[in-house]
Amino acid sequence: MKPDNGQYYPSYLQLEKILDSQHPLSFAEGQEPAHDEMLFIIIHQAYELWFKQILFELDFVKKVFSKEKVDDNSEDLNLCRHRLKRVTTILALLNQQVTVLDTMTPMDFLEFRNLLTPASGFQSKQFRLIEATLGLKMERRHQHDYYKRTNEGGFAQNDFNEINSIEASQTILQLINQWLERMPFFDEKFWKGYAAQFPSTQLHPFWNDYRSIYANSLTEREQQKLTDFDTQFIKEKQADGSFSDAAMRSALFIMLYRDFPVFQTSFQILDTLIEIDHWLAGWRHKHYVMVRRMIGMRVGTGNTSGAGYLEGAVQQHYIFKDLAALSTYLIERKRLPKLPEELIKALGFIS
Ligand code: HEM
Repeated sequence: MKPDNGQYYPSYLQLEKILDSQHPLSFAEGQEPAHDEMLFIIIHQAYELWFKQILFELDFVKKVFSKEKVDDNSEDLNLCRHRLKRVTTILALLNQQVTVLDTMTPMDFLEFRNLLTPASGFQSKQFRLIEATLGLKMERRHQHDYYKRTNEGGFAQNDFNEINSIEASQTILQLINQWLERMPFFDEKFWKGYAAQFPSTQLHPFWNDYRSIYANSLTEREQQKLTDFDTQFIKEKQADGSFSDAAMRSALFIMLYRDFPVFQTSFQILDTLIEIDHWLAGWRHKHYVMVRRMIGMRVGTGNTSGAGYLEGAVQQHYIFKDLAALSTYLIERKRLPKLPEELIKALGFIS
C-alpha cells in the first residue's frame, strides 16, 4: 500500500515490476530447480539496465555532435566529456561484474543450460545498439554473417530492424570525424608568422616540419612508419568506418598540444573514446575466458562456434583503434614546433 504523502520508494522505482521479473525456467513445475539460474537471470538483467543507461548517455553525445556547429568552449562539450567518462565508469563496473558470474561452476550451469536454447547474450539488442551507436559496422564484424539472421538463435525481426536503422544513422565515430574535420587549426591565416624549421614543400608548413621531425625520430627498423604516417595524415583518405586524413590531423594536433587549456575538453573526449574501446575489449575478453571455462569448446546456445567466435570478436571489434594508434605518431614534447601567436590567440575563440 502506498502512503498518501508524496512518492513511495517501491512505486517510484516500479520495483513490483522489476522484482517480479525473475522466473527461472528450472523452477517451473515438473523441472528440477537449478539454484544458480536465479543468479544467471539477475546478472543479465543488471547488465541490461546498465546498457540502458549507457545508451542514454551515448544518445546525448550523439545529439550534441549532430549540431551543425559545436562550440568548443560550451557547456555541451564539457557535458559530453563528463557523460562519456560516466560510460567508462559503468563499463568498469560491468567488467567487474563478471566475477560474480564466475561464482557459478560449469556443473551448476549445466543444470539449466539446455532450457535456454536458442537464447543467448548474442541476442542482446541493447549491446548491439551500443556497438552500432559508437560506430561498429556490420561488415567490419568478425563473421558478420552470424548477425544477418532472424532465424532461430538470431534476432526478432523488430530488433533486427532497429539495429539496422541505428547502423544506418550517423554513428558517434562519424560525428566525431566531422567535428574534427571542421576544426580550423590549419587555416592559412593563422600560420603567416610561423617560423618553419625545414625547407618548404607543397605540404602545410606545420605538417612539413612535423613529418621531418617524426622521420628523424624513427629508428632504422621503424622506417616503414613514415609510409604509415603519410597514409594516415597526408594522403587523402575518406572516412569509411574510420577517420579521414583531415580528422586524423586534427586529432593528432589535439593530442600534441593538449596542454593548452582550450584543447583540454577535446583531448579528454578523444581519450575517453579510446578508453571506452579498452573497457569494451576488456569485457569481451573476460566474457570469453568465462565462457571457455563454462562450456569449453562447445557451440553457444546462440549457435555460434562459441568461444572461438568470441575470441575473434575480441580481436576485431575495436571501434576507435585509429585514435589509439595516434601514439605511434607522437614526438617528444621538447621537439614540438612552436605554434604561431595568431593561432594561439585564435584558439581561445574556436567555434
Ligand atoms: C554462463 C554464462 C554465459 C555463457 C556460457 C555465455 C556464452 C556466450 C556464448 C557462447 C556467446 C556466443 C554466441 C552464442 O553462440 O551463444 C555469447 C555471446 C554474448 N554474450 Fe554471453 N554468456 C554468458 C553470460 C553472459 C552475460 C552475463 C552477459 C551480459 C549481458 C552476456 C552477454 C553476451 C553478449 C553481449 C554476447 C555477444 C558478444 C559479441 O557478439 O561480441 N553473456 N555468450
